[in-house]
Amino acid sequence: MMKPQKYYIETYGCQMNEADSEIVAGMLERATYQATREPEEADIILVNTCSVRQGADNRALSRLSQFKSLKKNNPNLLLGMIGCVAQRDRGKIIEERPFIDFVLGPDAYRRIPEIVANKKRQVIDVQLSRTEVYDGLMPFRNSVVNAWISIMRGCNKFCSYCIVPYTRGRERSRSVASIVEEINAAIAEGYQEITLLGQNVNSYRYNDIRFHDLLKIIAEIKGVRRIRFTSPHPEDVNTEMLEVMRDYDNICKHIHLPLQSGSTKVLADMNRSYSKERYLEFVDNIRHILPGCGITTDIIVGFPGETEADFQETLCVMDKVVFDNAYMFKYSPRPYTAAAKMKDDVPEAEKAERLNQVIAKQKIHTKQRNRSLIGTVQSVLIDGHSKKNPNEKIGRTDSNKLVILKEDHADIGDFIDILITGTAGVSLFGKINKP
Ligand code: SAH
Ligand code: SF4
Ligand code: F3S
Repeated sequence: MMKPQKYYIETYGCQMNEADSEIVAGMLERATYQATREPEEADIILVNTCSVRQGADNRALSRLSQFKSLKKNNPNLLLGMIGCVAQRDRGKIIEERPFIDFVLGPDAYRRIPEIVANKKRQVIDVQLSRTEVYDGLMPFRNSVVNAWISIMRGCNKFCSYCIVPYTRGRERSRSVASIVEEINAAIAEGYQEITLLGQNVNSYRYNDIRFHDLLKIIAEIKGVRRIRFTSPHPEDVNTEMLEVMRDYDNICKHIHLPLQSGSTKVLADMNRSYSKERYLEFVDNIRHILPGCGITTDIIVGFPGETEADFQETLCVMDKVVFDNAYMFKYSPRPYTAAAKMKDDVPEAEKAERLNQVIAKQKIHTKQRNRSLIGTVQSVLIDGHSKKNPNEKIGRTDSNKLVILKEDHADIGDFIDILITGTAGVSLFGKINKP
């Protein structure tokens, strides 16, 4: 009998890419390939790339160059580049790096089994689709307790700095029936937490079913212990959505609400559709309907034309909201985007300085939010071991905070009430609550 062929996938970028890699892995598994964690022993290597910032681009390309050397020992090795850099750079990639065998954009993954079976080389498929949602392709999941479920793909918002609409194409939503089918399959496999994914997850619309309707349908599925979703666009965080979140205990009280900037002028230049005041109204609405809901955000500093006064407005919104956590970035010009035509006029040193300031502020706020939880009891889903101490288990609260469980006995997949006893950095410490 022939030895089974092995595949290795490395994934960069957002959870959508993680979920796509699981869909690709599902197709390869059904075609009887076996997963490996060692690129050295793989017959097929796929790098699922991200192009959201220059740093992400560079990382993926340098990894591909490292994999090139593996072809010396294994001339049959197939090396494929998929994902957002593949979509953006297309044929240019193989022209510049002929050791890459195929380049597939995010809507072309159904071709993978055929390409690997026939050992095809020099394939480029970057056709974006208006309909592809990978319905009916069960993913081969990588995670232990959480199942990623893509409910929509693409983005129509065209924020001026962002490459995603160019690499992922237009918005399209998956049918309710196929989402429910995938969730039921995940529950049958033992997954207790479902994370709904989409570039603008709450722009979901399938016929008359909108995001809040879908949330309700999913919350009522038997066996779904926890539902998360990411990333919503602030503009689509409406009262209906918040009320469904309030009415169902199994929908986690956490909203990622990307701010990007606190300056109304910069927001307009970013094509973000809301002002500073409106953003603060969104937050008030969340706090009113869902008191205690975790709110996290994304912030970009050094966007073209951002003055010191504009930057101060971002700090001001941070002070008003006191986010639980934030992802903070220096503006990075991206090809094809509207902002790439603007002058990238904030000097690099200034961008770095502003980034340091937002990071320092966020650190204080995270600490403040976390400290306020000391003495409370949180429901935690245990999902792994602490990296520092394998005897300690880790899990997440409803509001998506990491909890390290000291000493007590708990198993992965357990849902337990934990008394929060302390904090460190972004994490909390706790022990099993014995009433
Ligand atoms: N669809 C998601 C965002 C995907 S990109 C949303 O709207 O929430 C994730 C984050 O990367 C963005 O929120 C933004 O803060 C950041 N980002 C995107 N393009 C960027 C760029 N050109 N430079 C710096 N940060 C960027
Ligand atoms: Fe990018 Fe804006 Fe679309 Fe998010 S909403 S993916 S930031 S264009
Ligand atoms: Fe990156 Fe593409 Fe996601 S650019 S952030 S992998 S949609």
